Amino acid sequence: MKNIVILISGAGSNMAAIVRTAEKQNWTQRLNARVSAIISNKADTEGLVFAKEHGIATVVVDHKAFAGEPQPREAFDAALMAEIDKHQPHLLVLAGFMRILTPGFVAHYEGRLINIHPSLLPAFTGLNTHARAIEAGCKFAGATVHRVTDQLDHGDILAQAVVPVLDDDTADTLAARVLTQEHLIYPKAVAALLAH
Ligand code: GAR
Repeated sequence: MKNIVILISGAGSNMAAIVRTAEKQNWTQRLNARVSAIISNKADTEGLVFAKEHGIATVVVDHKAFAGEPQPREAFDAALMAEIDKHQPHLLVLAGFMRILTPGFVAHYEGRLINIHPSLLPAFTGLNTHARAIEAGCKFAGATVHRVTDQLDHGDILAQAVVPVLDDDTADTLAARVLTQEHLIYPKAVAALLAH
């Protein structure tokens, strides 16, 4: 069985889209794959409630608990890796996981680590992508599923979705339009990777 581990920080709507698609398309039978754990760096997120309702193991590794360490980022990533590796993931899926990962973490999961970013990469890496796309006068925006490297929001592009930017868009209305597309391309990209 190919285990999928998904990392979230918040609402987890992309994670939910992947879980729902896995259920609907019966990935266990068709792809010999299952979502085996959802790990969040924040307690009490909507995403964890959804995961529990769907019978998926949940874990919280709170990054704030490592703030006093001499190397807090490394300590957090080491704790995270220990939890992830209990599930021996075939694929590690970042779904709104809002932490910068250390090079050691990225190297450990090389070839099986993917992310979704709310812009048409390589444009608008980093934060506030929708506001920046509107500010730049873009006529189109979108989302990108990509492999993760130790350079933020870089790595081979696996899938993209494009949406129009409307004249009266705010960052929120554009984000909502992009998010509906994220929910389509991310499960599809995950399934395509599992099929190989
Ligand atoms: C999504 O729009 C995702 O692309 C973005 O956060 C949102 C998470 O929503 N990710 C990033 O900005 C990563 N740099 P979700 O928790 O409902 O899936």
